[in-house]
Amino acid sequence: MQIKDNFYHIQGIPLTSLVEEFGSPLYVYDADKIVSQVNLLKQAFATVDLRIKYATKALSNINILKLLRKAGTGADAVSIEEVLLCLHAGFEPKEIMYTPNSVGFEEIQQAVDLGVMINIDSIPMLEHFGTYYGNQVPVCIRLNPHILAGGNAKISVGHIDSKFGISILQLKHILKVVEAYDLNVAGLHVHTGSDILDAEVFLKGAEILFDAAREFKDLQFLDFGGGFKVAYKPGDIATDILDVGTKVSKAFQEFCETYGRQLEIWFEPGKFLVSESGVLLTKVNLIKSTPASTFIGVDTGLNHLIRPMMYDAYHSVVNISRLEGPERVYTIVGYICETDTIAADRKLKEVQEGDIIAIKNAGAYGFSMASNYNSRLKPAEVLIIDGKAKLIRARETFDDILRHQIDLGI
Ligand code: LLP
Repeated sequence: MQIKDNFYHIQGIPLTSLVEEFGSPLYVYDADKIVSQVNLLKQAFATVDLRIKYATKALSNINILKLLRKAGTGADAVSIEEVLLCLHAGFEPKEIMYTPNSVGFEEIQQAVDLGVMINIDSIPMLEHFGTYYGNQVPVCIRLNPHILAGGNAKISVGHIDSKFGISILQLKHILKVVEAYDLNVAGLHVHTGSDILDAEVFLKGAEILFDAAREFKDLQFLDFGGGFKVAYKPGDIATDILDVGTKVSKAFQEFCETYGRQLEIWFEPGKFLVSESGVLLTKVNLIKSTPASTFIGVDTGLNHLIRPMMYDAYHSVVNISRLEGPERVYTIVGYICETDTIAADRKLKEVQEGDIIAIKNAGAYGFSMASNYNSRLKPAEVLIIDGKAKLIRARETFDDILRHQIDLGI
């Protein structure tokens, strides 16, 4: 989102005109921004054999998946439904990594039948896998490296108390299972969390992966997960991707030399690829002054963007209806019957009813975490591509709220 000739726009299209055309609230994504993030990542890892497995869960509209595929990524899926969605969007099975947690073995079998790479994150599942498939199906093993990293406790998943991965301290046990079932281990994986700033964390993860990898003879790839930090707040520092790329690539090349074979290096970014591409546009329903605050009530809430409530996440907000005039401090709240503060104590150009507020960085984990809480409808999604605004998801209607409910006629 940029300012030009006194209006906020994406690829020259005024954002307020999108609300006039498609209604409010509205998720809008900039295809150019997504493709440029893919290219930046490729540039950062230009000296190694990089495979990008986009974390589908961040934003799973099929058009976004197709766009990313065209830009040269594969996909990371965490449910069988995401696997099916990725296949529907045109990814080849071999381009998809399936990283489930706490799923039943039937779901893993279904994924094997679909031909995707399976990333196993527990010893019992590794044993089931061995019993069924032996060395017939290549497999990846998710290790928990015991690194505490990530923007907050809910999105830190590589520490010792986390449910994810197989503890690196259980490596000997893993090796026994691998030997007992003659498993064909094609890859090893770590993912420590989301919102990770420092190259050092990725390097620490890399060292743990390299040490473990020396115990496996036939690896094809090492997967470093996702987690690159994006700048949510003004003044926030994002992961310096070129720095991470340079340092991790160098360590990776050194490892490959000692391993005796050139491996592929996989990453699974979600936020890095799609967060900044997205804004959530919402209309001001109400301005309400109390002795303590001035609230702006908007026509969205935690049902459409749960990040502020769930993670105390900060999203920048802008009154895109006004470029000039005085500023005032407001607290933007949702219309849900909960304390769904979207942004507290923010300076905005003086707001009037009907103004449009843009909530920035809403591309990742925005729509994909949306719900129908309070029986509200999910918003529409628009993709700006080749200078044109395309509707990529229709706004829900009341029928969607009733769909699948079974009326007993009581
Ligand atoms: N790979 C694995 C195995 C993951 O669990 C995740 C995220 C990713 C990759 C992508 O991480 P990213 O590059 O997007 O940070 N809903 C939270 C983030 C949860 C992330 C869950 N796993 C949020 O809105 O901050």
